[in-house]
Amino acid sequence: MVMNPATAEQRQSVTQQEYDAIRRFLEESCGIVLGDNKHYLVNSRLSRVVKEQGFSSMGELVRALNTGRDRSVQVSVIDAMTTNETSWFRDNHPFESLREIILPDLSARGYGTAIWSAACSSGQEPYSISMVIQEYLRNRPNSLPGIRIVATDISPSMLQEAEKGVFENAAMSRGLSDEFKMRYFDLFDGYAKVKPVIRERITFKEINLLRSFTSLGRFDCIFCRNVLIYFSAENKRDIVKRLADALKPGGYLYLGGTESIASFTDRFETLRYRGGMVYKLK
Ligand SMILES: C[S@@+](CC[C@H](N)C(=O)[O-])C[C@H]1O[C@@H](n2cnc3c(N)ncnc32)[C@H](O)[C@@H]1O
Repeated sequence: MVMNPATAEQRQSVTQQEYDAIRRFLEESCGIVLGDNKHYLVNSRLSRVVKEQGFSSMGELVRALNTGRDRSVQVSVIDAMTTNETSWFRDNHPFESLREIILPDLSARGYGTAIWSAACSSGQEPYSISMVIQEYLRNRPNSLPGIRIVATDISPSMLQEAEKGVFENAAMSRGLSDEFKMRYFDLFDGYAKVKPVIRERITFKEINLLRSFTSLGRFDCIFCRNVLIYFSAENKRDIVKRLADALKPGGYLYLGGTESIASFTDRFETLRYRGGMVYKLK
């Protein structure tokens, strides 16, 4: 039978009932609040998943989501609906205060500094942190012994990319200086690979911020940037509380430029530096 194009398109489009089911699934599984009118977003991002997973319609995809039996369907939907936008040294100022205030403070605290990049996307954030550390060590070779970075994300495909440490030229051009490109990457035709000296101190792991992350241990500094904006106030409050619990006394917390903890907790003092800010656990 030849299907007319309008019918094929309709079968990929989301009905209100399906939209509500997807919305519920996203909020419960990863905290993302979709809003009332994002049907176009769901259609554009999930019609690809419908095809890739071999479903004949959006309805079939939603039914598979609802049964919860096929983890790969759930992961593909989360992957497709999360925003993975990132860049090297994003916003600059967090990396300046890391270099100029936080690392000097942490190096005075002794062995085993631990830094967590809590929604690391394709890895630019933890690799940027690691480059700042490497620069710091160039001038002070024996400081920060045992320093390590844990990089986590909910998305297995993002983590896979991050772990490879291979970036195409287009991604390399977003925020990285030529100096750092030459110093910390092996350059190939069309792509670059992070050098082991930057890669080796990072461990990658799948973590959903909505669930417990106590297994990671405690940190001196946490980057949790540009992810809380997608969550409800209730989830933000809960995550900020658990991030505070995951910090060692006097530990530091970075959020994204549009994110704030002011209305959620008074456990931090705010340090302002070069147009940016970092929260310090009291
Ligand atoms: C916009 S990116 C931010 C990347 C980086 N932190 C930065 O600021 O450039 C948001 C990341 O949060 C991740 N994410 C979304 N929901 C999450 C959750 N519940 N737990 C952990 N990570 C999540 C997404 O997979 C995505 O990689």
